[in-house]
Amino acid sequence: MKLTDFISDPRSIKLIGRTREYVRHFFERDGTHGFSHVERVFNLCLHIGKEEGADLEVLALASLLHDVARPLESSGKVEDHAVEGARIARHFLRSLGYPEEKVEAVAHAIEAHRFSRGPEPETLEAKILSDADKLDAIGAIGVARVFMYSGEHGRSIEDSLRHFEEKILKLKGLMYTKTARGIADGRHRFTVEFIERIMREIEGEI
Ligand SMILES: [Fe+2]
Ligand SMILES: [Fe+2]
Repeated sequence: MKLTDFISDPRSIKLIGRTREYVRHFFERDGTHGFSHVERVFNLCLHIGKEEGADLEVLALASLLHDVARPLESSGKVEDHAVEGARIARHFLRSLGYPEEKVEAVAHAIEAHRFSRGPEPETLEAKILSDADKLDAIGAIGVARVFMYSGEHGRSIEDSLRHFEEKILKLKGLMYTKTARGIADGRHRFTVEFIERIMREIEGEI
């Protein structure tokens, strides 16, 4: 993906590059919520945002910063990475003299990106970030991430499959934007196919 296909203003591109570098240092190691997840969410946000006519600069910054505090939550240093992430984002963007109105737009999207808790996304950009984050949990990448998470936490294959039923298969119905719903459809279908097949193999079908 080329950033210039989405954003042409050189100042905007520079700001996004700077933010990317800043965020990268928060992630010492990868994993289910590592920097590669951030990059995939960033890509999805730009694609969806272009289709939906969103503010791509706000979306790019919000997606890069959305999980910045995730490592702090994982190590027990903060309680909620969305709240802390919004705080870090405000501080960072203000230090660069970014306009206050846009700082708040980025911060709101970060605060509202968790579908399980926090405020409802109120802006188009916040809705798209939430959708992109959920999309990264469905489809082939979703399958990979579930089992990666299971590996990290010593969870069995059977328990991982329960997680699909309890959470992953519900995500398709939680999309806010039409573009994300379209992407979710294909990813969901693949996930269902995968589960049906693995269940057959577990049950002893050759
Ligand atoms: Fe998150
Ligand atoms: Fe995320």
